[in-house]
Amino acid sequence: MYVADDKRYDSMQYRRSGRSGIKLPAISLGLWHNFGGVDNFENSRAMLRRAFDLGITHFDLANNYGPPYGSAEETFGQIMKKDFLPYRDELIISTKAGWDMWPGPYGDLGSRKYLLASLDQSLKRMGLEYVDIFYHHRPDPDTPMEESMGALDTAVRSGRALYAGISAYNAKQTAQAVKILRDLGTHCLIHQPKYSMFVRDPEQGLFDVLEKEGVGAIVFSPLAQGLLSDRYLKGIPSDSRAARDFFLKKKDIAEDKLAKIRALNEIAAQRGQTLAEMAVAWVLRDPRVTSALVGTSKVSQVDDNVAALKNLKFSAEELRKIDGVLAGK
Ligand SMILES: NC(=O)c1ccc[n+]([C@@H]2O[C@H](COP(=O)([O-])OP(=O)(O)OC[C@H]3O[C@@H](n4cnc5c(N)ncnc54)[C@H](OP(=O)(O)O)[C@@H]3O)[C@@H](O)[C@H]2O)c1
Repeated sequence: MYVADDKRYDSMQYRRSGRSGIKLPAISLGLWHNFGGVDNFENSRAMLRRAFDLGITHFDLANNYGPPYGSAEETFGQIMKKDFLPYRDELIISTKAGWDMWPGPYGDLGSRKYLLASLDQSLKRMGLEYVDIFYHHRPDPDTPMEESMGALDTAVRSGRALYAGISAYNAKQTAQAVKILRDLGTHCLIHQPKYSMFVRDPEQGLFDVLEKEGVGAIVFSPLAQGLLSDRYLKGIPSDSRAARDFFLKKKDIAEDKLAKIRALNEIAAQRGQTLAEMAVAWVLRDPRVTSALVGTSKVSQVDDNVAALKNLKFSAEELRKIDGVLAGK
């Protein structure tokens, strides 16, 4: 039987999600990859256990994580039942709908029909009565935003979710969504944007909107799917995400990218960190970032990413050097 480490709250840092009552661990674990039906169950289980033992109280899912679609939620449901039921009230579990999930016109995008049916399916797969956060996974340009936000509001009011969130909405769409939710009486707890040293779009207005509106930011792919680590310095390992050549393409690891990764790796070494640690610390340097949402394929990566918290400070000189590398100077 799994018994969580007594010391699990001793060293993790928790940050408030915008103007809300919820604090999230500075590092959260996402189940997009390595928790599907095709993956090794005991490895998935070991990563979740290790994460919780280190104070990671937040696990992030979506309806279509797998493969196959839905299977990450099924895996999580089994692990929940075996290991985490006594700890349900210590956990923040999220899921999402918005990308393609089932065939036909009601299994994708942003209709009320899709979002609420999908949430019901997710709860069944995970064996949960409620999720802590339910997200609209991406904006749908053809559905009135009032309808999609209305579905999030219903999810919360009906008790299927405690909080509402949005992902991949740009700054303008976010301001609109937050207002619609507020007018309905539901606060938007959190936004989930992509953010890393290689993808800095949220700095162009989104973070400002989130700060103004009191919405938290949990940033996904802070390691740029593994590029911002030492994983690819000596070629493409056969067990890596790039080897699968699907979400992370081999062609994305070209020489110009590798040159930047090598230079960043040196800066990390001068800070006494691995590049993965520095990548996590770098997103957390901005106080508007509530949590760095990482993925992992092995237990050792969970440890390495959490070790980032030992050094979150960057000197002006280090930040200047990093900007220089990213600009290709
Ligand atoms: N809202 C959205 O639209 C959206 C989109 C994408 C992701 N997400 C969420 O964000 C989560 C994280 O995304 P992500 O998996 O792309 O994040 P990531 O942390 O940028 O990349 C994770 C990958 O990096 C490698 N890695 C992790 N830690 C490492 C370490 N310490 N040293 C060396 N390599 C390391 C592993 O690659 P290998 O597998 O090669 O070992 C791992 O699978 C997802 O699980 C999901 O919850 C949300």
